[in-house]
Amino acid sequence: MKLVIATHNIGKIREIRNKFADIPGLELVPLSDFPDAPEVIENGKTFKENAHRKAREAARFTGLPAMADDSGLVVDALGGRPGVRSARYGQLSAADADRNRMILDELRDVPADRRTTRFVCVISIQFPDGGGYFAEGACEGIIAESMRGSHGFGYDPIFYLPDVKKTMAELTMEEKNRISHRAKALDAMRKILIKLGN
Ligand code: IMP
Repeated sequence: MKLVIATHNIGKIREIRNKFADIPGLELVPLSDFPDAPEVIENGKTFKENAHRKAREAARFTGLPAMADDSGLVVDALGGRPGVRSARYGQLSAADADRNRMILDELRDVPADRRTTRFVCVISIQFPDGGGYFAEGACEGIIAESMRGSHGFGYDPIFYLPDVKKTMAELTMEEKNRISHRAKALDAMRKILIKLGN
C-alpha cells in the first residue's frame, strides 16, 4: 500500500519513516511529491478534527491513502489551553520562548499539584473513497517553574517529567522518541497498519 505523509515537517517525516520502516508492503510517499496539494487551514475544535481534515484533503487530492497528525499542549489549570491553538498561542509573531514565558506567567501562582499537563497527538489515516482510522497518544507531565534544556522544540523546555526529573528539552531525541505523545500514537497506528496488511 502507498501511504501519503501529509506533513512538510522533516522531523516528523523522519520519525514516521523510522517507526514504519519494517512494515511489509508499505510505501511512504511524501506530500512534497504533490507540489500543488492545497494547504489545509487548521481551525478545527479538536486535534482529531484537524488530523482528520488534513488526511482527508490529502487523500482526496492525491487519490491515495493519506496520514496526518495534529498535536499540542493541554494545560489543566488553563482549561485545556493552548490545545489546538498550541502553534499559534499568543501573538502571531511570538517565538517558542515567548509562548513558554506566557504560560509560565499565567501559572505564576498555581501550586505544583495543579500544574498538570499533557502533550497529545492524534493521527488519522483517510482513504480517497472515504473511511479511515485514528490513533491517539498522550504524555503526562507538569508545567515547570522555569524553562530548562535546549533540545526539542516548542513547549519542551517547560514540560517537566517528574519520573525522570527532567524537562522534555533535557532529553535526547532518542529518549524523547521513546516516551512522546507522537511516538505512542505512531505505535498505535503501526499496529493498525500491520493488521491492514494481513
Ligand atoms: P503540530 O501538530 O505540528 O501542528 O504542532 C502543534 C504545536 O504543538 C507545535 O507548534 C508546538 O508548539 C506544540 N507541540 C506539538 N508537539 C510538541 C512536542 O513534542 N514538543 C513541544 N511542543 C510540541
